[in-house]
Amino acid sequence: MRVSTIISEAAKRSAARSRFLATLQGEAVWPPPIWLMRQAGRYLPEYRDIRAQAGSFLDLCFDPVRASRVTLQPIERFDFDAAILFADILLIPHALGQGVRFEEGEGPRLFPTITTENIRSLEIQNIGAALAPIFETVRLTRAALGPEKTLIGFAGAPWTVATYMLAGGASRDPAGLRRVAYEQPAFLEELIALLVKATVAYLVGQIDAGAEAVQLFDTWAGGLPEPLARRLSLDPMRSIARRVKALRPGTPFIFFPRGVGALASAYAEAPECDAISIDSWTPWEFARASLSSHAVVQGGFDPMLVVAGGEAMDREARALVNAFRGVPYIFNLGHGLTPDTPPAHVARLVKIVREME
Ligand code: CP3
Repeated sequence: MRVSTIISEAAKRSAARSRFLATLQGEAVWPPPIWLMRQAGRYLPEYRDIRAQAGSFLDLCFDPVRASRVTLQPIERFDFDAAILFADILLIPHALGQGVRFEEGEGPRLFPTITTENIRSLEIQNIGAALAPIFETVRLTRAALGPEKTLIGFAGAPWTVATYMLAGGASRDPAGLRRVAYEQPAFLEELIALLVKATVAYLVGQIDAGAEAVQLFDTWAGGLPEPLARRLSLDPMRSIARRVKALRPGTPFIFFPRGVGALASAYAEAPECDAISIDSWTPWEFARASLSSHAVVQGGFDPMLVVAGGEAMDREARALVNAFRGVPYIFNLGHGLTPDTPPAHVARLVKIVREME
């Protein structure tokens, strides 16, 4: 739901402070603010340097000084309007006691896979302490950012995190796990409820440390039939946002339900959803006509265009910004930047968006 109709004095003050937060509050800021999913990462040589010093990817996530530097790198290089905490959606399974490893070139490995036999061994009591270094990263980063920049916290949506916990890594067919949903509904519901609880604690910790908005990544929401999408993806995201907003009033939530097609309107219409991040397949006309009246739209730009660069990138970026002229919109991608993206293309993209007339 958009809180645009009445702009309070507090909102006006923060509008002057941050173009990103003003947009999230429903103002059609021009040109739109810009940040990019996976803006910190391997496509940046300065990231690869720190990553090599840190050791493993998990070591980097749990090293607040280095993680904070990595969070700030894309802001320093490209002057994005928002920084996103450098961490990972799989830190929650790790904090719950499941083994997590990131193998070079192979993606994440989680062990053992979660079953009805071992689900009770997951430990939620310790979650705040286990994730304390991440909160320290947020604190250091917020202190180093200018007042006009927003710090975004994040977590994975329970369904996406559950797919990794159940499959032991990136699932080849995440929606294929719906068999578990049909055959063992109580087991899956127990896992999702545990993840909702853990995620609320994690996000409240991030907000208390200085995160000003929150994004929930449901990378694998696509491919679920509507009743399952509502039950396993949308409802848990809504519960998390509702509980966090009750504990920390006013926290804006961005939902990223990747691949859900026309069902995106159900996410945008949820009262807890302040902004909806669209994937690269969502028609812009549909987003403007059917999503924009319920939630601020973010994203939609094909990450492959940033790899390609050139005329195609310039033209499509201008067309996307023009498609949302007059309504609140946050420029972003339909999914994360890939490691083969030339940093010069990212710099060019920021310039194109900033120079829109
Ligand atoms: O810059 C940012 O966006 C902030 C940090 C961030 C990372 N992961 C860092 C990361 C964020 C927001 C994520 C989210 C995330 N992680 C998602 C949801 C968004 C999406 O991309 O779909 C998912 C599904 C994950 C799980 C994950 N983490 C995978 C599948 C991988 C391996 C893939 C790969 O590229 O190797 C990771 C590792 C990871 N997370 C890296 C980074 C920078 C690469 C690790 C490295 O440096 O070796």
